[in-house]
Amino acid sequence: MDGSLTLPADVVAELGRRVWELVSEHGDAAGQGAGKERATQGRAVERALPVASPGARGLAAGLRGEPLPEAAAGDPLALVDAVGRLLREGNAHPDHPDFLAFVPSPGTVTGVLGAALAAGFAVPTGWRFTGAVSSAIESAAVRWLVELLGLSPRYSGLFVSGGSTANLTALTAARDALVGTEAPGATAYFSDQTHLSVPRALHVLGIGRDRVRVLPADAQRRIPVADLVRRVARDRRDGLRPFLVVANAGTTATGDVDPLPELAAFCRDEGLWLHVDGAFGAPAALTARGRAALAGLDAADSVSVDPHKWLFQPAGTGCVLLRDPARLGHAFGVALPGYLEAGATADGDGEVDYLQWGVEQTREFRALRLWMSLKVFGADAFRAAVERGMRTADDTAAYIRCRPEFEVVTGPSLAVVTFRGVPPADAPPRSPAEVDGLVEEVCRDLRAEGRAMVVPVGVGGRRVFRLCVINPRVERDGVRGVVDRIAELWTARAGSRERPGGTA
Ligand SMILES: Cc1ncc(COP(=O)(O)O)c(C=O)c1O
Repeated sequence: MDGSLTLPADVVAELGRRVWELVSEHGDAAGQGAGKERATQGRAVERALPVASPGARGLAAGLRGEPLPEAAAGDPLALVDAVGRLLREGNAHPDHPDFLAFVPSPGTVTGVLGAALAAGFAVPTGWRFTGAVSSAIESAAVRWLVELLGLSPRYSGLFVSGGSTANLTALTAARDALVGTEAPGATAYFSDQTHLSVPRALHVLGIGRDRVRVLPADAQRRIPVADLVRRVARDRRDGLRPFLVVANAGTTATGDVDPLPELAAFCRDEGLWLHVDGAFGAPAALTARGRAALAGLDAADSVSVDPHKWLFQPAGTGCVLLRDPARLGHAFGVALPGYLEAGATADGDGEVDYLQWGVEQTREFRALRLWMSLKVFGADAFRAAVERGMRTADDTAAYIRCRPEFEVVTGPSLAVVTFRGVPPADAPPRSPAEVDGLVEEVCRDLRAEGRAMVVPVGVGGRRVFRLCVINPRVERDGVRGVVDRIAELWTARAGSRERPGGTA
C-alpha cells in the first residue's frame, strides 16, 4: 500500500476503454448513436433499452447498507461492468426517447465528452490565475448563448449547476441591488405555476413566506397582470417594499409563458426587478416562432436557462444571465484572503474571475460541454433540434385530437402537450377524484411495463396526462406509439367496473 492511489497504465487504459464502451452503448440504446431502435409494423417501436427497469428498487436497497470497502476491489474491470449494470437497470433514463415526463435531459455525446475531458484535466474555473483558458471558454460560451437567445450583448453571466441555482443566483443579485442584504419589507411576486426553486430561493435569501405573493394564475395559466398591479399597490400602501417579479418562460407543467412585455413595462415603471425563469423554455428563442412566443425576454433583468434541458447537455449544466452582470460582482464579490492574493488578476475588458460572480469557488468546467457541442454541431443544428421538438409537439397534439379516447387540455406550448381521457360510453359513472385516480394509474402502468416515463400534472384542478417532447431523438411514430398505449390502458381502466386503486 504506497498510498499513491494509482493504477498500472495498462489497467487504466483498459478501464477507460470499457467505460467508454458502456457510455456509448448507453448512448446508442438511448438513440444518440447509430440508433438501435427499429420501427416494426408501422408504429410500434422496439427499443434496445427500457426507459426504466422494474428491478430498480431492489438494486437500490442492496446498495444503501453496503459496508465501507476496506479492501481493494479484486478486479476493477468487473466493478466498472457492475456499475454499468447498476446505471442501466437501476435508474430511469431522462435521455431516452420514451422519457416524456418532467423536463427530459436529452444529452449529446459531445457534452459527455466535454464533461470527461474537464474532469480528466481537473480543470480550474474559479479564476483566471490557474484557469486562463477555461475562463475564456466560459466567457465565449456565455456570449454564444446570449446570441443564440437573441438577447442584447450587454447580458452576461456564468454557468451554474442548474435552474435552481440559476434562480437563486439571480434572486440574490436582485435582492442586493434593490433592497439590500437585510431586505426589510422586501416582497416578491410570481404565479402559482412558478417552479418550486423560486420560493425556495427566497427562503434561502431570508425573505419570509409573509412577503412572498403567489398569485393564482389565470385560465391560460399565466400571471394575471391586473392582480399583480393591485397587489403591488396594496403592499406599498402597507409599507412593504415590492422588489421582484418572477415570470415564467415555459412553466414546467404546461410550457406556458407569462406576458413578458406587460410585465417588463410594469416592472420598469415600478422600479421592480424582472427575473425570467427560462430554465426549461428559454431555448425556444433559438427558433423564429419560439422567439415570438418569448417576445419581451430581452427586457428581463435576469434570465435562467438550463443547457441540461433543451440545449442537450449532461445534467449539472445551468446558466444565469444578467442585463447588468456587474450586479453579480456586487452580490457575490469578495476580497481575497492572503493565501489567495497571488491569484488576483486585474479585471480587463469584460473579463472576470467567476468565483466573484457566484457562490462556488472550485467549480466544474460546465461551459466546455456546450462550447464543444456548438463547435462540433454548429448553431444551426441546435436551432433545428429545438424546432424539431416543437414540431413533434404539434404532431403529437394533432394525433391526440384525432383519437376518440382523448381531449387536448393545453398546448402544444414549447413542446409540452397535456390531455385528458374521455371515459368510454359504457363506463361506470365516476367522481372527478376517481377519474384523476385513473390517470395516475395509467401512468403507473406505463412506467411499470417500462414502456414510457409519463407523469400526470394538475391543470385547472384536475389530473391530466402530460408529454414533454424536447428530445430531438423522439420519433414521430415513437411518441404516437406511446399515445396509443396510453389509449389502450385508459380504455381498459376507465371501462372497467373496478374503482381506481381498489375493487368494484
Ligand atoms: C421552469 C423551471 N425552473 C427551474 C427548474 C429547476 O431546474 P434544475 O432541476 O436544473 O435545478 C426547472 C426544472 O425542471 C424548471 O422546469
